Amino acid sequence: MKAKLLKYVFFFFGMTTIILLNSCTYDNIEDLYPQPPTCDTLNVTFAQDVLTVIDANCTVCHSGSAPSGNLSLTNYADIVVAAQNGSLIGVINHRSGWSPMPKNGAKLDECTIKKIEAWVAAGTPNN
Ligand code: HEC
Repeated sequence: MKAKLLKYVFFFFGMTTIILLNSCTYDNIEDLYPQPPTCDTLNVTFAQDVLTVIDANCTVCHSGSAPSGNLSLTNYADIVVAAQNGSLIGVINHRSGWSPMPKNGAKLDECTIKKIEAWVAAGTPNN
């Protein structure tokens, strides 16, 4: 009688252990369902998302006493003019009718372009 009870107890613990071990799988949502990388166009600022990009990709030509295309892009006032006349968005998107920029360089990545577009759409705030 006692031996039979002991058997049940062992069986019970055995099963519990197996169930617990089986439930310990490592699933994380990113591995199961890969998400496309997100591009945050909601928290865009001039200083962080526009000026830094232009400084890194454009002012090498568009600054100084004889800027390329006679267009300086070193500060907010300069950049707003290009943003508002459509040339900034035209050139970075390589739209026809605009000289593709950065000139002779690789197109800016999609997310960077989207952020600059979001800044223009927001009314070119100086933030
Ligand atoms: C290697 C030098 C160089 C770089 C880098 C460069 N540009 Fe230019 N950009 C020029 C030249 C030269 C012109 C005059 C037009 C031409 O020759 O294509 C010009 C013209 C422009 C124009 C006027 C285009 C038009 O059709 O009226 C805009 C706007 C402009 N650039 C924006 C930018 C922006 C924004 C960047 C950075 C993403 C940039 N450029 C990077 C050389 C450069």
